[in-house]
Amino acid sequence: MSDELLLKGQVLRFTHSPFEGDPAAAARLDEAVLIRDGKVVETGGADALCRAAPSARVEDMGEAMIVAGFVDAHAHYPQTAIIASWGKRLIDWLNCYTFPEEMRFADADYAAEIARRYLDLTLSHGTTTVASYCTIHSESVEAFFTAAQARGLRAAAGKTCMDRNAPEGLRDTAQSAHDQSKALLERWHGAGRLSYVITPRFSPTSTPAQLEALGALWAAHPDCLMQTHLSEQTDEIAWVKSLFPDARDYLDTYEAHGLLGARGLYGHAIHLEPRERDRLRETGAALIHCPTSNTFIGSGLFDMARAKAGGQRVGLATDTGGGSSFSMLCTMAAAYEIGQLTGTALHPAQLVWLATAGSAEALHMGHEIGNIAPGMEADLVALDLASTPAIAQRAARASDIWEALFPTIMMGDDRAVRAVWIEGRRLSV
Ligand code: GUN
Ligand code: ZN
Repeated sequence: MSDELLLKGQVLRFTHSPFEGDPAAAARLDEAVLIRDGKVVETGGADALCRAAPSARVEDMGEAMIVAGFVDAHAHYPQTAIIASWGKRLIDWLNCYTFPEEMRFADADYAAEIARRYLDLTLSHGTTTVASYCTIHSESVEAFFTAAQARGLRAAAGKTCMDRNAPEGLRDTAQSAHDQSKALLERWHGAGRLSYVITPRFSPTSTPAQLEALGALWAAHPDCLMQTHLSEQTDEIAWVKSLFPDARDYLDTYEAHGLLGARGLYGHAIHLEPRERDRLRETGAALIHCPTSNTFIGSGLFDMARAKAGGQRVGLATDTGGGSSFSMLCTMAAAYEIGQLTGTALHPAQLVWLATAGSAEALHMGHEIGNIAPGMEADLVALDLASTPAIAQRAARASDIWEALFPTIMMGDDRAVRAVWIEGRRLSV
């Protein structure tokens, strides 16, 4: 017997990217979505779907907006407990707060506790898929995938590799990074909804030999994603230039070692040179915009309009805990504000698309998640568009759906997340 669920509400589905043409015309509202065995069958009128599936269970979310679950394309789950640490820019922030905390993940029990805490927090904020960095320790990867699997999540993660410019206890070698990543990849990649991501932290903490070894691993497993950081702060870029004097630019430190490709995820990518922009676009790589992090650590302003106008693939992410929030709603709000500072007011449709379909496409999961369409996995979120008195009084003035949604994007948090479904199964959040 198949399991059928008819979910009623304001079901938002994208017909195409809101970065192509009129953003407001890129989505449709339906009255209901029919789900069978964890997958979307179709969306449409509530009565018609009721007649089509008379034995389906019905959950009526009233005026709530049902959207695809949020996809966070770049996060560091091990930084959960040090989120919102005061007063440092990138390199000092890594040395003062991040590395000491990441050291603790040698302890498998601690890693498991934080993995559970992190996923419970993100689910309560409506994030149903994340691409996370782990730490140098294989235990941290085991902990993350085990916790994700227990919740039935589609998730991506990898061991963060570093063989220099990191403290004793947080360094591997070119060989051990390769071998441990390979063993984890063979164990977890494609296990149910999980996928492995090859993860050199960033060029300053990897020798050329380590980058080369991870490039070779990627070449041997081209269906894996690869994630790293690129051109986040100007001091960092100067450091990369001094460490790699022969490189044409920061991107070249990856490109020269086989670490540039369509399945590459490049976090931040704020201060790019023209050659870097061209190569990233030509290869179909994804830039991952981390707006709360870019303001919190003081990194700079990512120019979304320019990237999208050039046809660049872009995902959206919290970058927890350099980012100051677990919430993709807060992340959309920060993306809007950075858009204003760079001269473009991003439309609510563009913001929601970036947090769902855009990030899913960046992760090459756009056929499975990130939208509500036939055959897609039913990872869904119901948003209360009047979750606080301040939001409710503003939404009451709305003259269309985008105006009704925008106050929740700008002022909403986990209180706006009324329900979350993973493959059609409702979670208690
Ligand atoms: N660059 C290298 N590592 C990190 C990290 O953990 N967070 C951020 N924001 N940038 C990085
Ligand atoms: Zn990061």
